[in-house]
Amino acid sequence: MKTFQYAEDLGNLNQALAEAQEIKNDRFKYQQLGKNKTLMMVFFNNSLRTRLSTQKAAMNLGMNVIVLDVNAGAWKLETERGVIMDGDKSEHLLEAIPVMGCYCDLIGVRSFAGLTDREYDYAETVINQFIKYSGRPVFAMESATVHPLQAFADLITIEEHKRSSRPKVVLTWAPHPKALPQAVPNSFAEWMNAADVDLVVTHPKGYELDPRFVAGARVEYDQMKALEGAQFVYAKNWSCPGVSLPQQYGQILNKDMSWTIDAAHMAVTDNAFFMHCLPVRRGMIVTDDVIESPTSLVIPEAANREISATVVLKRMLQSL
Ligand code: CP
Repeated sequence: MKTFQYAEDLGNLNQALAEAQEIKNDRFKYQQLGKNKTLMMVFFNNSLRTRLSTQKAAMNLGMNVIVLDVNAGAWKLETERGVIMDGDKSEHLLEAIPVMGCYCDLIGVRSFAGLTDREYDYAETVINQFIKYSGRPVFAMESATVHPLQAFADLITIEEHKRSSRPKVVLTWAPHPKALPQAVPNSFAEWMNAADVDLVVTHPKGYELDPRFVAGARVEYDQMKALEGAQFVYAKNWSCPGVSLPQQYGQILNKDMSWTIDAAHMAVTDNAFFMHCLPVRRGMIVTDDVIESPTSLVIPEAANREISATVVLKRMLQSL
């Protein structure tokens, strides 16, 4: 596997889930695979889970790890081609990327959407430059439009907790004070569509996700109706994806607190598990009682980030 951005990069998802279970049974089984190999993790944005779980995954596989926080100690990087670099950016990504590739075997990149230019973000301009110029296998640690390590961990978590062969899974928008990217809901919808679940997506009008990720899922604008009979409730905020109104891309259109997941929302479900990728704003996305309830899966989801990352790194090492 030379790139990891989309569900299809893993091929058969049942096979990937079986590999995840194999890793879970013995997470050090492939410890020789990464001997004398180096993972470089490049962060343009902050992280807790992705940073720790991916580093742990690399250690499970016997790899060495280099972490570069681009905004803390590196030269400030220019990402646009064709500009006159007379500002505060000292180095261009087009030199920095092949240099990074000299020092490692695999590269993970976290580069969030800027949320000002839909075309630039949805072209995945930054990570695609890593794919093109690094000479190394590259995986997304949340790029402008996708967060596949999270979605794979979410799928593993659902597989482990489902009570029926084809559970009803509801992806629900919830309010947030800041404009957030669409990477997590895009990937969640994409991966659930690829898996054997009954996916329903609910959000206020104007928050329609890009069809390339959500097509095939049912969209229900009445949140309570969507939640009826759900076995998994996946809450997440996202800003306007700009599908029908490109000029509103990246904006907050709604802060309706009636969308916050509380006990009344969970009461109409089929005793659903609550899920969120974290970090989460309590009182905005979800109430304390719901996230602290026995059916909250937020910690098992985070734990499965180590498993999803170990499978992905293993596949990439096997392709070297
Ligand atoms: N869920 C997730 O990716 O968490 P971090 O942003 O902390 O890495």
